[in-house]
Amino acid sequence: MRLSCTALFLWLSLLPAWAQDWSENSELPGQERCFNSHGHRVCLRDGHRANILNLNQNTLRKYIIKGSAHALNYPVDISELQLPVKAMEKFFNADSNSALRRFIFKISKKFAPFKNFEDLFNWVGLHDYPKTTLEKGPNLIADMGELEEYPMGVSVKNFNHAQAMTFSCAACHSQDLFGTKVLGLSNRFPRANEVFILGQKALLASNSLLFQILIGPSADDMEIYKNSRHAIKFVGLKEPQTLGLDTSLAQVGLSLAKRADDSYATRSRFVRERKSPLAKVPADSKPAVWWNLKYKTKWLSDASIDSGNPVHTNFLWNEIGRGVDLKKLENWLEVNKKTIDELTAYVFNTKAPQFNDFFPEKIDIVKAKRGEKIFLNSCKGCHGIYEKGWGQENSHELDYEKLIATTKVWYHKKTIVKDVGTDPYRHQGMTYFYKDLNKLKISQSIGTRVVPKKGYVPPPLVGIWARWPYFHNNSAPTLYDVITPAKSRAKTYIAVPSQDKELDFDKQKNGYPSAEYIREPYKSDSEYFFNSNKKGMSNKGHETMLLDENGREKLSHQDKLDLIEFLQTL
Ligand code: HEC
Ligand code: HEC
Repeated sequence: MRLSCTALFLWLSLLPAWAQDWSENSELPGQERCFNSHGHRVCLRDGHRANILNLNQNTLRKYIIKGSAHALNYPVDISELQLPVKAMEKFFNADSNSALRRFIFKISKKFAPFKNFEDLFNWVGLHDYPKTTLEKGPNLIADMGELEEYPMGVSVKNFNHAQAMTFSCAACHSQDLFGTKVLGLSNRFPRANEVFILGQKALLASNSLLFQILIGPSADDMEIYKNSRHAIKFVGLKEPQTLGLDTSLAQVGLSLAKRADDSYATRSRFVRERKSPLAKVPADSKPAVWWNLKYKTKWLSDASIDSGNPVHTNFLWNEIGRGVDLKKLENWLEVNKKTIDELTAYVFNTKAPQFNDFFPEKIDIVKAKRGEKIFLNSCKGCHGIYEKGWGQENSHELDYEKLIATTKVWYHKKTIVKDVGTDPYRHQGMTYFYKDLNKLKISQSIGTRVVPKKGYVPPPLVGIWARWPYFHNNSAPTLYDVITPAKSRAKTYIAVPSQDKELDFDKQKNGYPSAEYIREPYKSDSEYFFNSNKKGMSNKGHETMLLDENGREKLSHQDKLDLIEFLQTL
């Protein structure tokens, strides 16, 4: 043990300065402060890894521009599961009585009425690129040229003389927040999983001959179709329990179950699909925000990814979920190291949207300072410490914006996991397929190791105001619910897109307005209805910190509003 530690130390000290430590021993940089919190020793650091590759400012800027473009246009060109653009256009132009429409109608009533790409993408929850500087969020959205005719999240690549379409990271990791386009903020209503499900139905119900007859595709479109039809056989899919959640995790597990049990998870039609509990048991979660990465050393909502670059891992997972040949992917990752570095530099460098940019001068600093006291008493042991401008020595010289600014974040030197009694299905989901993942040669070559954990990461709360609904499964519609004991939380709520600052946001409780204030058509659309009684959707837990030793609620209504006022400044 001693020897291996010394060897590791030697090895680490030999690494060039820019090499990043992706091992399970990695820690945040910075000064350390430790304290006891409810019987546990907590050690926080004040550094972060916003410049994860330690690039000089010039290079960092270049990487960020390229990285943003990769987040918008999916860079993996060996991906096989894609839509032939021209053939799709023919479908949209076909009149409602054509054989083609009738065929699609038989497969899916949902898909049949779409008259153009726009209808489809609206349904998927995608939004347009920013058109004016006012619409630009905190994170660079690269100039994507012609691609900007499509919404953010649509990826189009040349394929010989044709064009092939798929989703990029932005399909799940970007949001239109009251007109501002924020790359790195979760899509509140992603339907990527459902598109895969529709695609699988259409591909498996058709064949090359039928495709030829119905569409009359070009030779290249035919090849895109054939590749997709092959790949989709190795993709296992699942519909999310509720709109707003995503089943990518289950998709990885279910897809691996369709492949051989060897170190390349070989695709073969002779392999019999293995049974996976994920087919029945939910493991849904919301897409994560990216700006927290700089404070973390383990990845995903349950910190189950112990080592490896999370962007590397993401490509692996995205591609398993798209039926890739893992030998090809291994080679692609080897040849495209720079692409991965660029995307990595970008995601770690993203920032949160600020409340004050949306609601100028609306924070009451006196209230927020009272909230800060509550936070330091009840929350910092898990969520870290956020130093504010108003706490600085020179605070009397600061203007409003500088007073409410966060000057420093202290977060765990190693990411922690806590079981606070929130819904267990998502973290349990990892236990069903982590062995399949760890066994892969490619996981070993990129250094990814998955270790299931019991509980979830208490996430850094930077930009928390913009992240409603809350908890990994979206079960709390407002911050007020998060800090109210479970039995008094809203059991159901109605979700609504964040279009209008006044109508679609409860500024006081910070989150979705209560049901009677939700506007049509969302109010009567059952898809936007969240029911915490559903499996995996429970809103229990996260309450011992809210109760005193006699089990009584610690915070009054006014305390909660003060605490929310503070949280809105993070
Ligand atoms: C189909 C939707 C979808 C797409 C596409 C997608 N993601 Fe994600 N991503 C998720 C979900 C859902 C999670 C959270 C899973 C969890 O932790 O439970 C996540 C988590 C992450 C995390 C971990 C964050 C953390 O705090 O640990 C990173 C990093 C990430 N995604 C990056 C990417 C990148 C880069 C791409 C493009 C290559 C991408 N994602 C594409 C849905 C998606
Ligand atoms: C014992 C550790 C612990 C303490 C103390 C704690 N939390 Fe949490 N908190 C968690 C965990 C774990 C989660 C993630 C739960 C999940 O997603 O299922 C969480 C989630 C949250 C979320 C939702 C985050 C998101 O992105 O959806 C907010 C907001 C939050 N906590 C606020 C607070 C506040 C405010 C306090 C103090 C009153 C507090 N927490 C005290 C552990 C803690």
